[in-house]
Amino acid sequence: VMTNGYKPAPLDLNHVKLTPNQNQLVEKLAENGHNVWARDRVRQGWTYSIVQDIVNKRNPRLVPYNLLDERTKKTNRDSVNNAVRTLIGYGYNIEPPDQESNVKTTSVRIFRAEKSYAVTQGKWYFEFEAITTGEMRVGWARPCVRSDTELGADELAYVFNGNKAQRWHVGNEPFGRQWLSGDVVGCMIDLNEMNIMFTLNGEMLISDSGSEMAFKDIEIGEGFIPVCALGLSQVGRINLGQNVSSLKYFAICGLQEGFEPFAINMKRDITMWFSKSLAQFVPVPTDHHHIEVAHHSNLIKL
Ligand SMILES: *[C@@H]1O[C@H](CO)[C@@H](O)[C@H](O)[C@H]1NC(C)=O
Repeated sequence: VMTNGYKPAPLDLNHVKLTPNQNQLVEKLAENGHNVWARDRVRQGWTYSIVQDIVNKRNPRLVPYNLLDERTKKTNRDSVNNAVRTLIGYGYNIEPPDQESNVKTTSVRIFRAEKSYAVTQGKWYFEFEAITTGEMRVGWARPCVRSDTELGADELAYVFNGNKAQRWHVGNEPFGRQWLSGDVVGCMIDLNEMNIMFTLNGEMLISDSGSEMAFKDIEIGEGFIPVCALGLSQVGRINLGQNVSSLKYFAICGLQEGFEPFAINMKRDITMWFSKSLAQFVPVPTDHHHIEVAHHSNLIKL
């Protein structure tokens, strides 16, 4: 801290790494920055010479960017690099404009809790209310769950699909029963016994062989976070239990077995992330005779 009380504390960017696309952007910005600088010098009457001569307004760096010396390029690049990483550090998404057309847009969007909330011990519970009854999956995932892979198709997620009555982990098997609109799935993970269970409206869901374990012998690894995936125009409501009394079936199935609401004692809302490739929407004309559009921004309660 300086004597005037000022203690510089810039954003910590250690964890921010740029993608190849973002590095290309840094390169473009650095080049553009050089061109802006050079244009302004030229306007002020500066010209090129091999050595710098301030009195006569001569500067060796008045050359096209690709002919610029590496040291100057690096200085430009470093400052732009810092700016871009700062934007990312503040949570901005920076992607090239043509990316959207290259990326296959999927009709499913994955929502997951921030990695830092991963649980590695204890017994945890949260709820998911199926407002619609279509393609949705809910359960537990590894912190590194991928947004570009079908949830539960790989080893990174353990989820229940109430549309098809299936459990999903490296593929699927029949499990439980189908949900109806308004049904509430309880998602339970027991990291003492190493298993995952699901309830539907407070009743344990069971496998074809009659087992209550949706998944057993799971490994702790890097832990688990709540996750759900919603198909096109599906609506679900995830309740991590920050307000315990708002959980609908916890007292019936969960509390007595020693489970705790996932967000118990959390003062702040849990940060949630969702996959970026957007579902495709078609504009609905305002005078359409049987479709009406309403905006419900709080239907997915994060
Ligand atoms: C918690 O949930 C209950 C039941 O939904 C509700 O009555 C209560 O107002 C909620 N409390 C807070 C602090 O939101």
